[in-house]
Amino acid sequence: MTGILQNFDIYSFQEKLIEWYQSNKRDLPWRQDQDPYKVWVSEIMLQQTRVDTVIPYFQRFISKYPTLYDLAYAEEQDVLKSWEGLGYYSRVRNLQTAVREVEAAYGGEVPDDPKQLGKLKGIGPYTKGAILSIAFNQPEPAVDGNVMRVLSRVLKIEDDIAQSKVKKQFEGYASELISHDDPSSFNQGIMELGALICTPKEPMCMFCPVQKHCRAFQEGMEQELPIKSKAKKQKKIPYTVLLIHNERGEYLIEKRPENGLLANLWQFPMVPIAEIGKDHMVNWFEMEYGIDVELSDKKGDLKHVFSHIIWQLEIVAATTPSKETEDKRVRFVSRDELEEYPFPVSHQKMMRYIT
Ligand code: ADE
Repeated sequence: MTGILQNFDIYSFQEKLIEWYQSNKRDLPWRQDQDPYKVWVSEIMLQQTRVDTVIPYFQRFISKYPTLYDLAYAEEQDVLKSWEGLGYYSRVRNLQTAVREVEAAYGGEVPDDPKQLGKLKGIGPYTKGAILSIAFNQPEPAVDGNVMRVLSRVLKIEDDIAQSKVKKQFEGYASELISHDDPSSFNQGIMELGALICTPKEPMCMFCPVQKHCRAFQEGMEQELPIKSKAKKQKKIPYTVLLIHNERGEYLIEKRPENGLLANLWQFPMVPIAEIGKDHMVNWFEMEYGIDVELSDKKGDLKHVFSHIIWQLEIVAATTPSKETEDKRVRFVSRDELEEYPFPVSHQKMMRYIT
């Protein structure tokens, strides 16, 4: 062996890691069996979302859609409702698209072939490796941010983990390190180590099962790794959100476009105020939706941070004489009916301003 893994005792590392995982793994709901569908759902939920947040969502989702078929045949709006609050909603839209493809092309059996699996919507190298190793016990790497943190320390890699070419290098190292006897415990062991011991700040090296193997620890530089360049600062976009109700006490809601941010979720109408200007808001609204509104009082402000933008929302109540509309994007719904639609978190928070 040449390069970074020269002089690295791979077998001892695997053994220590797997032994530690077996006795320290958390009892998580997706660890109760190896059903590839459930492993898949859990890995999609766990992308960019913390374990504690995922647990109740996973339990509800699996109760509602216990098999791949249940999800394949479900209504997209219901599925989005089950995901409400988890964020990154394209994850679940892609999951449903992919599950439908598995139903149609593979008789409902999640493929255990890396090529077939990797072609499914929303399954990138990480998810592919996680499903193959955890559900099918294949020695495939599953490298996400946590795994890169652990490996950057153990192997003392000082490259910028924000770069995709560096991620590919880590996948190469993980392929060489992974146990062929127990790939599932190996991959989950690294994830677990990253979650419980090799944490971003103040890692607990004193309790680390692979401390002896860790080059960063030996040089006292575990806190300096990994190196990660900062993402671009998010662009701030101001909106005025209109909570418009009519004489029946119904509220006007709008379905977001079928592509892009928060696709197909529902919201209270948002006026992009930097483009339209406050003074023209009411006119613009009438032109855009064919609905007359009269502004009443300001209810408050809200900020919502996404990975790439920040919404700055001013919430304003308004009334309208309309009771129905021609515009397919919008509907009037009662307070109770609002609960049935999937809303982004920021708009759920606004519900407290309506009676
Ligand atoms: N993070 C990503 N995948 C995970 C898993 N299977 N268990 C715990 N944390 C994870």
